[in-house]
Amino acid sequence: MYLIIAEDSASLDRLAADFVERRVTENPQLCLGTVTGASPEGMYRELARRHAKNGLDFSEIRTINTDEYLGLPAIHPQSYHFYLEQKFFCPCGIPLSHTAVPSGTAENALKECERYEAFCRAHPTDLQILGVGHTGHIGFNEPEDCFADKTHIVDLHQETISANSVYFSDGEHIPTQAITVGIGTLMRAKEILLLIRGASKAEVTYKLLCGPVTPRVPGTILRFHRNVTAIIDGEAISLVWERAPELLREYTSGQEGFTERR
Ligand code: GLP
Repeated sequence: MYLIIAEDSASLDRLAADFVERRVTENPQLCLGTVTGASPEGMYRELARRHAKNGLDFSEIRTINTDEYLGLPAIHPQSYHFYLEQKFFCPCGIPLSHTAVPSGTAENALKECERYEAFCRAHPTDLQILGVGHTGHIGFNEPEDCFADKTHIVDLHQETISANSVYFSDGEHIPTQAITVGIGTLMRAKEILLLIRGASKAEVTYKLLCGPVTPRVPGTILRFHRNVTAIIDGEAISLVWERAPELLREYTSGQEGFTERR
C-alpha cells in the first residue's frame, strides 16, 4: 500500500483529482470503479472544475459503481444513481450510456445481483475509487464472518444507517439494505485509490492500517492488494500517528511498507 497524507481536506481533493486525471489521460477508455459518500465528493467537484476549465475529457471512460440502496429509485435524491449523475457524470460530460449502477428497484433483487456480477466480470476495473465506512465497510461490504466474493444483498449495520441518516430528511424512511459488489470484485481491480478523511474515521483508519486483516473490518483486505494508493487527511491518520508512529516513520523515510507515490 502506498500512503499519501494530505494536509487537509482541500489538498486531499486535489491530490485525488490529480491521481484520477493522470490515469484518465494515460488511458482515455479507463474503466473506473466509482463510489459515493463524502470521501470522494470534493474530488468529483475538482474533476468537474478541470473538465470545465481545462477540457479534461471523460467522454470515453466507463464507470461501474460499487453499490446502491435497495428500495430507492434512481430519481430519489439520496440514491447513488442520483448522487453520481449530479456530482460526477453530468458535470464531467460522461455519457450515461457509459455508466453502471446496480438497480435498487429491480423486481427480483437476486437476479439483479447476478446481472451486475456478470457485468462487472465482463468489464474489468482499471481503477477503483474507494472510501471506508465507520464499520470498516468498503462498497457496502459490512463486517461478516467471511469476505463476500460476489455482488450480493447486504443488511446495513446500525452504525452505517445512523451515519447515512444525516442525508435523509426527518421522518423519511432510511433504507436498511443495499446491493453491493463483493470484496472479490473490488480486489480484482488493477489499481485502487482509497480516500479517507475526517476525525470520525481515525479509529477505523488505525484498524485498517495496523489491525489484523479480518472480515470483521472488511477494508483491511486492501492490505493484500498489490496496487493500492491511500490518500488520508491529517485528522483521519491522527490515531496512527499516536499509536504506531514507527509505521509512519517508515513511510516518511521511504523505507519498506508505506511509501509515498504521487
Ligand atoms: C457509504 C457508501 C460507501 C462509502 C462509505 C463511506 O455509505 N456505500 O461506498 O465509501 O459509505 O462513506 P463516506 O465517504 O461518506 O464516509
